[in-house]
Amino acid sequence: MDKSLPPDKRADLVIAQMTLGEKIQLVHGTGWGALRPGAPIPPGSNEGAGFVPGIERLGIPGINMADSAVGVRGAAQESRYATLLPSTLGLAASFDPAAAALYGSVIGRELRDQGFNMSIGGGVDLIREPRNGRNFEYAGEDPILAGTMVGQLMKGLQSQQVMGDIKHYAFNDQETGRNVLNVILDQRAMRESDLLAFQIAVKIAQPAGVMCSYNKLNGDYACENDYLLNQVLKKTWGFQGWVLSDWGGTHSTTKAALNGLDQEMPGDQYFGAALEKAVDSREVPEARLNDMVHRILRSMFACGVIDNPPVRTVVDPFRGRDDAQHIAEESIVLLKNDGNILPLNAARLASIALIGSHADAGVLSGGGSAQVDPPGGDAVTQRTGGAQWMHPAWFPSSPLKCIREKATQATVEYDAGTDLAAAARLAKASQVAIVFVNQYMSEGRDAATLSLPNNQDALVSAVTAANPHTIVVIESGGPVSMPWADSVQGILEAWYPGIGGAQALAAILFGDVNPSARLPVTFARTEADLPHPQVPGIDLKPAYRPPPFDVNYTEGLRVGYKWFEAEHKQPLFPFGYGLSYTKFAYSGLHADGNARTVSFNLKNTGKRDGTEVAQVYVTLPSAAGEPFKRLVAWERVPLKAGESKLVTLALDPLYLSIFSSEKDGWELLPGDYSAFAGPLTAPFHIGQ
Ligand code: BGC
Repeated sequence: MDKSLPPDKRADLVIAQMTLGEKIQLVHGTGWGALRPGAPIPPGSNEGAGFVPGIERLGIPGINMADSAVGVRGAAQESRYATLLPSTLGLAASFDPAAAALYGSVIGRELRDQGFNMSIGGGVDLIREPRNGRNFEYAGEDPILAGTMVGQLMKGLQSQQVMGDIKHYAFNDQETGRNVLNVILDQRAMRESDLLAFQIAVKIAQPAGVMCSYNKLNGDYACENDYLLNQVLKKTWGFQGWVLSDWGGTHSTTKAALNGLDQEMPGDQYFGAALEKAVDSREVPEARLNDMVHRILRSMFACGVIDNPPVRTVVDPFRGRDDAQHIAEESIVLLKNDGNILPLNAARLASIALIGSHADAGVLSGGGSAQVDPPGGDAVTQRTGGAQWMHPAWFPSSPLKCIREKATQATVEYDAGTDLAAAARLAKASQVAIVFVNQYMSEGRDAATLSLPNNQDALVSAVTAANPHTIVVIESGGPVSMPWADSVQGILEAWYPGIGGAQALAAILFGDVNPSARLPVTFARTEADLPHPQVPGIDLKPAYRPPPFDVNYTEGLRVGYKWFEAEHKQPLFPFGYGLSYTKFAYSGLHADGNARTVSFNLKNTGKRDGTEVAQVYVTLPSAAGEPFKRLVAWERVPLKAGESKLVTLALDPLYLSIFSSEKDGWELLPGDYSAFAGPLTAPFHIGQ
C-alpha cells in the first residue's frame, strides 16, 4: 500500500504474499452472472458483464467489469442512468482526438459513479466487412485513424481511474460464424491493417486489458494464439496489462496459458481447478501463473483502482447529454447539399414534412453488448425493463421536437412513413421534406446486404418524387447503399447519434453548427464492389454457430479505400469525404522527407466559420508494392470566414513504413514518395 512504489513493485509485493488458490482466483471470472437471467450473482459483484472477486486480506478489491462501448450497459436492471454516446464509428467521423478523450472520460466517469472499476469496451477491429453487425462499435477502416481514436478514447477513460480495455484482438471483423471461423492472412497484411490499429491504441492508452476474440487466426483461436498474444502484443509491443478472453472464448488450459492468455472470462472452465492442476503438475510453470497475476495487479495499481476506488454517486445526466451532443455535432457527416438546401432558413420556411424512422419520438441505438438502456423506457415502444437482445432500442431525443424548437414560424408535421402514398402527400404539401431512414445493427449478426431494410429506399423515392426538396437523414450502423442518392437534395449520415442526437441534428440542419465530420469508412455503391460480395459464411446453417469455415482475406492489407483505389472502383462516397457549409482552399503544399513534415496553406473562402478536417495521404515508392494512398496525418483546422492558416503536420516514420515479414520488423523504404492534401500533390524523397 506504499503509493510511492512503482506498480510493478507493488504487484510483486502482493504476489509474494499470495497462496496458489488466491492466484488462481484472480485469473478467471465467476460466471455469466447478470448476463444470464437466473445465474447466481456472487457477493461483491456490481452486476456487470464480468466479476473477479478480490482478496480482502491483502487489500485487493474485486474487478467489476462493465460493457461500455458507447455508454455503460445494463443500467436498467439496477435503476441506474447511463449516457448514450454517439456510436464509436460516429466518433471516428469527427477525426477529433480530443472528442475521443472526452468520449472515454464520459464513460469512465459514469462507470465510477456506478461502482465499476473496469470497462470492457474499446473496439478497434477494422471495418473490413461493411455489413458487420458491430461496425458501429468500431472506429472505421483506416488503422491509423482507428488506432488513434480508440487509443485516445481509452486514455480518456483511464484518466477517470477506471481500468480500460481494447478489443476484440484480433480480426473479429464479422459476426457471422465468429466462434468458428478461421481468418487466413499473412503477417505483413496483418501488421499493416488491423494489428496496426491495435498497436497504436495500445501505445497511446496503455490499457489495463486486451480482450482476445472468438475467432481463429491462421489455425489457432485468438485466445491461444502465440503469435498474436506472446509474440506481437507482449514481446514486440511491450504490452504490460493482461489478456482476458472474450466471453466463452477460452478453449484450453495449458495451450492458452502458455500462448499468452492471462484470464478466462466469464467463468472458470479452463483457468479454475484445471489450471491449478496444470500448475501443480508443472505443465504450466508457476512463473507463468505469477506473470498472469502480476499483469492484473500491476494494472490495478497503475490505473488507481486500488488507491482510489470508485465511489457510488448519482450519474450527472445533464453533463453527459451535453458531452454527447457536442460529440454528435462533430460526428454527423454532410454527404450531399445540392443547391445549398442546407442549412435551412428557419425564418423563411412555412412548412416542413418530417417522415419516417420514429423521428417524432427518438433516435436509434446499436444492439448487443454495446446496448445502453433508454432512460424512462423505450421512446417508441414505451417498454420498460431495459433493452432486449437484438431488438432496436429508441432513445428519447426527439427530432420532431428539436426541429419544431428551431422552426418556430413553420408548421412541422410528422408522418410515420409506413404508407408511401400518405408520406408523399405530406411531402408534396410541404416546402421541404426531411426523411429519416435507419438500419438497426447488433452484435450477433451481420446485414445480408448494404441496402436499407423495410422498404425505406422506396419511401425515399416516393417522397422525392413528390417533393424534390428532400433531405435524407440516415441512422445506420455503418455504410449503406443509396439508390436514390442522385435524386435527393441533401444527405446527412448521423450514425447512431446518441442521447443528444436530435439536438445535434437540429443544430446542423438549421446552421447553428457547421458540419465538419468526414467518413471514416468507404460507402460502396453495391456489394459487387466489395472484396467479398457476400459476407463469408452467411449462407451456412445454423446461422450463429455453423460448422467451422475459413475466411480468406484475399484483399490482404488493402482494406476499405485502399481496395477501391487499387481495384479502380468508384465508391458512392469515399473515405475522408464530408461537406461543410463553407468552402476551403488548399495552396502551397510542401513535403520534406528529411524533416518528415508536410505543410500547406488552408483558407476558408466562404462566408461562414467552419472546421476543415485537413487530411494528408501518402503514396510509397513503387518497391513497396502498394499502389494506393494511405492516410498518414490529419488535423481539424477551425477557420473563421476568410481566415487562412499555414498548417504543418508531422509524418510519423512508422506510418510511412511497410512491414517486412523476413525482417520481422518495420521498414522505411528509401525512394520517392508523394504527399496529397486537398486537391494538391507534392513529391518528396526519403534517402538511404
Ligand atoms: C462480446 C464482448 C463483450 C462480452 C461480454 C461478448 O459476446 O463479444 O464484446 O464484452 O460478450 O458481454
